[in-house]
Amino acid sequence: MTTLLQINTSINNGNGQSSQLADQFVAAFRERNPGAQFTKRDLAKEAVPHLTAERFGAFAAKPEQLDAAQRAVVAYSDALIAELKAADVIVLGLPMYNFGVPSQLKAYFDHIARAGVTFRYTASGPEGLLTGKKVYVFAARGGIYAGSALDTQTSYVRDFLRFLGMDDVEFVYAEGLAISPEAREASLVKARAQAQSLAA
Ligand SMILES: Cc1cc2nc3c(=O)[nH]c(=O)nc-3n(C[C@H](O)[C@H](O)[C@H](O)COP(=O)(O)O)c2cc1C
Repeated sequence: MTTLLQINTSINNGNGQSSQLADQFVAAFRERNPGAQFTKRDLAKEAVPHLTAERFGAFAAKPEQLDAAQRAVVAYSDALIAELKAADVIVLGLPMYNFGVPSQLKAYFDHIARAGVTFRYTASGPEGLLTGKKVYVFAARGGIYAGSALDTQTSYVRDFLRFLGMDDVEFVYAEGLAISPEAREASLVKARAQAQSLAA
């Protein structure tokens, strides 16, 4: 059975353009796959804490060395990873804020990158352990950057996911949303059509 995990990161909650595109894809996907299990995580509503030395120390320590607070930190990260591991298809809503990914997403990434759990180092280099997944990213931006050097967001997200083993990643862009009402509408129409056809 297919398991679908949607991760929204817009500060505008369900009203964000990235969230709405992700929602649209998910609705179409679920219509085509009525048996699919579905989980939705909203990182703006339920924020993952910033990584700290204490939190990272808990990830790096041996289980028998952990105190109660550190065990809770590891259990929290384990739960995020278990949710991800269980998913075959991951849908990510990705707004651009100040030239980067939402800090909520960075904090989440910092809690799912775990040596020996989601990646490991081998003689031939790092190996991602979260394999066999398909990821769809719905990126919303006020300006237009895709394919240019200013789009560090795409390479960052792609490289991070690949590092963890998720190398089948498809991006849909809704760009130019702040340029003019016409540009916004044209871009959203195109992105919605892409979302629809990807779910088909
Ligand atoms: C705090 C903030 C920072 C933004 N920074 C950028 C930016 O650097 N580049 C850009 O193209 N658009 C920027 N935008 C516009 C957003 O990318 C655009 O509104 C997009 O729709 C956000 O996704 P969302 O609607 O899913 O939240 C910014 C918007 C906000 C609220």
